[in-house]
Amino acid sequence: MSQAITPWVIGNWKMNPVSQDAQALLERLQQLLYTHERHLCHVAVAPTLLHLLWAKQTLQSSVIDVVAQDVSRVAGLGAYTGEVSADLLKDSQIDYVLIGHSERRTLFTDDVAILQDKIRHALTAGLKVIYCVGETLQQREDGLAESTVLQQICDLERAVEQADDWQNIIIAYEPIWAIGTGKTASAEDAQAIHQSIRQGLAQMTDFAQQLPLLYGGSVKAENAQDFAQCPDINGVLVGGASLNADAFYQIIQAFVKTKSSVSIG
Ligand code: PGA
Repeated sequence: MSQAITPWVIGNWKMNPVSQDAQALLERLQQLLYTHERHLCHVAVAPTLLHLLWAKQTLQSSVIDVVAQDVSRVAGLGAYTGEVSADLLKDSQIDYVLIGHSERRTLFTDDVAILQDKIRHALTAGLKVIYCVGETLQQREDGLAESTVLQQICDLERAVEQADDWQNIIIAYEPIWAIGTGKTASAEDAQAIHQSIRQGLAQMTDFAQQLPLLYGGSVKAENAQDFAQCPDINGVLVGGASLNADAFYQIIQAFVKTKSSVSIG
């Protein structure tokens, strides 16, 4: 159990929206978060690569952080058409990157070796990594949800070279069958997986109790509080609902209210 972790609410915009709507979305979000106190909940958005620097500039005096949705498996600079390295992200003051999202794993070519390269280079460049794990529906029905996720955590461990690098890791548990489907894991099932992840992490790092574990998969204003009530769920990674500033804000509020009313210790 880890009540002392400041919650995280991160919006994954995926391949959305067009520029005009992105502008309206950030404007509204900034209005809503005008009086937000950073220590109550970390808030971040992950726009497309095309909107990353614009979002960073727009949000420079705001409490909202900016996250890259992906990074190259190649470090540094060089002749790699279409790629953006962790070093280039860092050079542009982007401090966070999503790695291992199931859409990258299943729709593109991100296998374990590629993901480990991405993690290694991101950590070496000084980025904070939001590493996504999660089982398919078939794996859940076969009773393999926990072992699948723990294997993915072992994949992560092999890419974390320095003990201190664990401080720069956030894990998002996103059951694949719950992403964009309107189905969510029950809060109990999500908590059970989160607890197993934390127990697994405890074998790997002294930072296990401080490591933020987020849930993702059809999180909405209506169900955010259920997840916020779980002791090992330290935040959420939100896809669809993060494209609506008011809905996203309600999710943030659910975490602020629920987590700050849970007694520490
Ligand atoms: P969703 O996406 O909230 O639209 O299900 C979550 C994610 O893929 O991060």
